[in-house]
Amino acid sequence: MSRVPMLIGNWKMNKTLQEARDFAQRLGQQSMHLKPGCEYAICAPYTSLHLLRVMLPAQVQLGAQNVYHEVSGAYTGEISASMLVDFGTKFVLAGHSERRAIFGESNEMIARKVSTIMKAGMTPILCVGETIAEREAGQTEHVVKEQVLSGVANLESGEVETLVIAYEPVWAIGTGKTASVDDAGQVIGWIRQILVNQFSSSVANHVRILYGGSVKADNIASFVGHPEIDGGLVGGASLEADSFVGMAKAIEGGQR
Ligand code: PGA
Repeated sequence: MSRVPMLIGNWKMNKTLQEARDFAQRLGQQSMHLKPGCEYAICAPYTSLHLLRVMLPAQVQLGAQNVYHEVSGAYTGEISASMLVDFGTKFVLAGHSERRAIFGESNEMIARKVSTIMKAGMTPILCVGETIAEREAGQTEHVVKEQVLSGVANLESGEVETLVIAYEPVWAIGTGKTASVDDAGQVIGWIRQILVNQFSSSVANHVRILYGGSVKADNIASFVGHPEIDGGLVGGASLEADSFVGMAKAIEGGQR
């Protein structure tokens, strides 16, 4: 089946309101290049969500980078799913490697976030990927399998169909080094097979699985051209509107 490709920006902890406004204005000027054959979103810091909701071109959906799994209460500093829904947020990242490594998020916490996001009517983008040590030790398949299976542990199969997964090898994030298209395609193929075994091929065939890790305008077309890879989750190269549009054009011009 053909899945609609996605271009998802992850701004991480970047951009003041003025910088977010400049980005949105520039993207708006070039919005004719954001063609309907692809789905676009920016996962922004909470502080920019309102502004982006107002200013982003209609083709670009809103995403957040994190959420807390409880509904409300004494959780100082946290943000709930219903607060994100208030802003019109469509996507929420869960299990990004920076949250796993820097903030100590476990597979179990990530699974709770994934189901919280889903139950609130938003789409989780479950991020998985091995470290360089794990890759060199031949553990990539094992690590990714554990992250995927624990990430979806609280979901019904009907919910899994709507999930987005991002395969992001940790060693490729922010380093300028990408996985080869074949390696990324192979791991993403394994991820789809894990979903086939756990749920069904019909469920697995609906799930969009992205590649992330040093994606930019001049390499995204080759990733998206691979039949297993449904788009990109992009950090650094999503921070400039021109570069975001460059990636959108590259996907549009790709062989998919
Ligand atoms: P990068 O980040 O594109 O800057 O490598 C990707 C990510 O962390 O999602």
